[in-house]
Amino acid sequence: MSKNFRVLAAVTLAATLAAASGCSSSRSSDESSDSGSNLIGIAMPTKSLERWNNDGTYLDGLLKKAGYETSLQYADNKVDQQITQLQNMINQNPKVLVVASIDGTALSTVLETAAKANVKVIAYDRLINETPNVDYYATFDNYQVGKLQGEFIKEKLALDTAAGPFNIEPFAGSSDDNNAKFFFSGAWDVLKPYVDSKKLVIPSGKKLASNDDWKNVSVDGWSSQKAQAEMDNRLNSYYTGGKKLDAVLSPNDSLALGIEQSLESKGYKPGTNWPIITGQDADQANVKNILADKQSMTVWKDTRTLGDQVAKMVDQIVKGETVETNDTTTYNNGNKVVPAYLLPPVVVTKDDVKTKLVDSGFYTADKLGL
Ligand code: BGC
Repeated sequence: MSKNFRVLAAVTLAATLAAASGCSSSRSSDESSDSGSNLIGIAMPTKSLERWNNDGTYLDGLLKKAGYETSLQYADNKVDQQITQLQNMINQNPKVLVVASIDGTALSTVLETAAKANVKVIAYDRLINETPNVDYYATFDNYQVGKLQGEFIKEKLALDTAAGPFNIEPFAGSSDDNNAKFFFSGAWDVLKPYVDSKKLVIPSGKKLASNDDWKNVSVDGWSSQKAQAEMDNRLNSYYTGGKKLDAVLSPNDSLALGIEQSLESKGYKPGTNWPIITGQDADQANVKNILADKQSMTVWKDTRTLGDQVAKMVDQIVKGETVETNDTTTYNNGNKVVPAYLLPPVVVTKDDVKTKLVDSGFYTADKLGL
């Protein structure tokens, strides 16, 4: 009750100050919901991937600590379920919705309802497309994630100096996730010149003449099982007779896990014929695989920093303050450019698991078997 009062008082104060100073900003939310509710809705895609559990729990905790009520929902990667959850949240008159979408193009109708109810919307990690009704976007620099993966492969294979050619198998993320094309573009901008010069060869023959072809190698739902089956197919069909596989471009850890299981089942051995494999998220199983030489790197996105930024955005919206963003050009959602806050991703290899992931408190040493 007293917290509700404090938030309301803050909103009123901010509105009064803004009016008194004559200041107005397109980013300020002084026109935002003035309902008595203190609720923040958090819609997450699925519990089946480690990162979303961490993301949800962390953000939920932060907002509760800041005095908000929260509704945290996971949608089992089912678009209809996420839409129903959002509608239910809107019915409870929240201040803000934080949405990590499953399908970035499927939320236009429900977000129209949110806009009519004066509920502000923050796209969390994944952009929401084809709608004017998304106010802010907070994420890691998605293009940079892919660039780091591409550069890692380039350096490990010494593509500028070694004779080659090297065999690579590229993968991309889920075709309905707006991030997936950014990850692929970042990596392919680095690697494609070497494919063009034939220093890199794709034995499976996947057609990737431009970044726009990324859906030719996408794995829907970011599924480990589907990635494993696809890798099985490629190995069975194109790597017979001792053909060497030098590198796999995997956009994230859930795909990398499936790819690693496939290699294992086909008798590949770490330290002998195991290829370079990239990843993203620093999921526990993958970090263990990095330590066991089954994965070469992961791009770590410290989801605590994303949670901190989003909690800050929520508070700025509720208080009618200017919302902090650092990118107002990159993320055009097909309707408008959504003002974004981009955080920096970080490469982790076997050498720095301890200094980066353990010393920062992201994992305890015993969780990684260290
Ligand atoms: C996220 C990645 C994650 C993937 C699968 C992407 O949108 O940015 O961190 O690995 O979804 O959940």
